[in-house]
Amino acid sequence: MRIAITGSNGKIGRATTARLLADGHEVVGFDLDGPRGPGFTRVDLRDYGQALDALLGVTARHDGVDALVHLAAIPVNGLVPDATTFHHNMAVSFNVLFGAHRAGIKKIVYASSIIAMGFPFEEPPPYLPLDEGYTAANNTYGLVKVMEETMVGQLVRWDPQLSVTALRFTNVVGENEYGSFERAGELDYRRELLGSYVDARDAALAVSLAVEKAPPGFEAYAIAASDTGLTIPSAQLAAAWFPGVPLRKELGEFETLLSIDKAATRLGYVPRHLWRDR
Ligand SMILES: NC(=O)c1ccc[n+]([C@@H]2O[C@H](COP(=O)([O-])OP(=O)(O)OC[C@H]3O[C@@H](n4cnc5c(N)ncnc54)[C@H](O)[C@@H]3O)[C@@H](O)[C@H]2O)c1
Repeated sequence: MRIAITGSNGKIGRATTARLLADGHEVVGFDLDGPRGPGFTRVDLRDYGQALDALLGVTARHDGVDALVHLAAIPVNGLVPDATTFHHNMAVSFNVLFGAHRAGIKKIVYASSIIAMGFPFEEPPPYLPLDEGYTAANNTYGLVKVMEETMVGQLVRWDPQLSVTALRFTNVVGENEYGSFERAGELDYRRELLGSYVDARDAALAVSLAVEKAPPGFEAYAIAASDTGLTIPSAQLAAAWFPGVPLRKELGEFETLLSIDKAATRLGYVPRHLWRDR
């Protein structure tokens, strides 16, 4: 397949580009910045004209794509004022997702986040392991993630052949970002993430599986490693962090508290890069 990746020069974008190329796909990257040359075009996706035109074709790059992976965003609150995060990310996602629909692209995979599931969990989750059945946003970055899911839930009604997958990534850890795991024995480490993490290469694996396997319609999947980032057993973490919150299953010793069962069952997602094995 020929696949467009927005945010191709970012953390998940670089890992995803490598994954999709290794899987035998052709990749066209779009980003504000990136390596000049084949496979990349500089685009400011805040501009609908640029977004739509780049999806339809770019001279010397491509004449149409089979699928879209949308990763471009301001990836956290705090980098710019809160309202700017909202306006930027909402405009970019509308331009890219609606533009893809206009361009007739039938397969879309995009980055959602644990931020759409109640991060940083000052209010306890309703149950554990937490899954895609729960949606809650606590800041403007999260609001956009929730609104994107609402938007694509309607877009797939307009085109019954359209497949859209939201991957609700937890905190994505690049290969050189494992330093903080020194704190794995501390009870407050990663509490705001329910103890979860995911290696960037496994985030990219989830993208690749969704591109290949997702059927028409809209689905959201939580994407995490299969273990927590802590050396304290998961049942102990759940009891200490969220007393009284019901456990929906018996937990393995270090089993993730952010359920990846749906991604495992429907997409065949099995994370390969666990910090414990490093
Ligand atoms: N990193 C994480 O822990 C994490 C967790 C959950 C979800 N996500 C989501 O995954 C996606 C990718 O995150 P990341 O960590 O790779 O972020 P990143 O900041 O490393 O990459 C984002 C890329 O998007 C590009 N971009 C931003 N605005 C743009 C615009 N207007 N036009 C064109 N390109 C633009 C940036 O230049 C950057 O290269 C985002 O949607 C983010 O919200 C990330």
